[in-house]
Amino acid sequence: MAEEKRKRILSGIQPTGTPTLGNYIGAVRNWALLQSEYDCLYMIADLHALTVRQVPAELRRRTRELAALLLAVGIDPKNHVLFVQSHVPAHCELAWVLACNTQFGELSRMTQFKDKSAKHPDNVNGGLFTYPVLMAADILIYNADLVPVGQDQTQHLEIARVIANRFNGVYGETFTLPEGYVPAAGAKIMSLSEPTKKMSKSDTNANSFVLMTDDRDAIVRKFKRAVTDSDGQVRFDRENKPGVSNLMAIYSTFTGRTMEEIEAEFAGKGYGDFKLAVAEVTADALAPVQAEYGRILADKAYVDEVLKDGAARAARLANRTVSKVYRKVGLLQLDR
Ligand code: TYM
Repeated sequence: MAEEKRKRILSGIQPTGTPTLGNYIGAVRNWALLQSEYDCLYMIADLHALTVRQVPAELRRRTRELAALLLAVGIDPKNHVLFVQSHVPAHCELAWVLACNTQFGELSRMTQFKDKSAKHPDNVNGGLFTYPVLMAADILIYNADLVPVGQDQTQHLEIARVIANRFNGVYGETFTLPEGYVPAAGAKIMSLSEPTKKMSKSDTNANSFVLMTDDRDAIVRKFKRAVTDSDGQVRFDRENKPGVSNLMAIYSTFTGRTMEEIEAEFAGKGYGDFKLAVAEVTADALAPVQAEYGRILADKAYVDEVLKDGAARAARLANRTVSKVYRKVGLLQLDR
């Protein structure tokens, strides 16, 4: 019997600072896990990073570091594809066509655009506004079936579906409508110091996030300081106990235990014990990744080779879609 064709995944992460535990639990960890079931393309979204002012040399360094980190997490560049967005120009080509099929009003409603423009009022640029169109191009250009992301990206995924659907309606069946893959417990890891806010690497308070490269001491220190509440019970209640619930989500991810099991485990114990346990399982999970990261990053030539090969393979797929789209919208193409 012919083997069933595997479904395809595309996801991306920006090279803007070291990824946090939020990036790891919400996305990157699942990227590695999903490789056994899907054909995966994972991308470093350097073009998206330009929507906020970057220090050029730093952006370049971080792009390579992030590639090494993704390899350390277990992304397998032989059986899957790891590449840098700007190395596949077809993303921008498709983004233009999609932008011409996306409404101003739709883009104006994006919460991330509103948040980021409020945060950087001196640089509300066109790229920030059309950011979701480029992201739609990233996904649709590979006809991805599944997009593993954290909760903050679900609105962007929704607009990608809207754009795909509209294009298919006008020009005929062209794009696959992508589905999101959002983890049950860790879709939104919250800040350790303000647990009603998302954990973010751009937070000015370094105690609010754990970085994927933090050592055990730093991890323990940050979890010890994590804001909880005064009722002293380890109980899952996002609304009334956001700090404790966030720590439980992290603990649940790394131990596989349910919220009920965690509540039973820490019944009658103080937050001190609980926080230490969360720190320990986090440090245990990150330690092997960090060891691999150091080893891989030391071999720049290998990382660059992976990215070169990834870009070539991604471009072959992407160029095919762009050709098809150009033909459908009526752009004259000469024989190549
Ligand atoms: P970025 O770089 O902000 O984040 C990468 C991934 O990490 C997830 N994430 C979180 N998950 C749980 N809790 C958190 N606190 C947390 N913080 C971040 C994000 O949801 C994301 O999945 N626009 C994207 C990059 C991108 C992309 C794409 C993603 C570009 N093109 C195409 C998917 C498909 C971004 O800025 O992610």
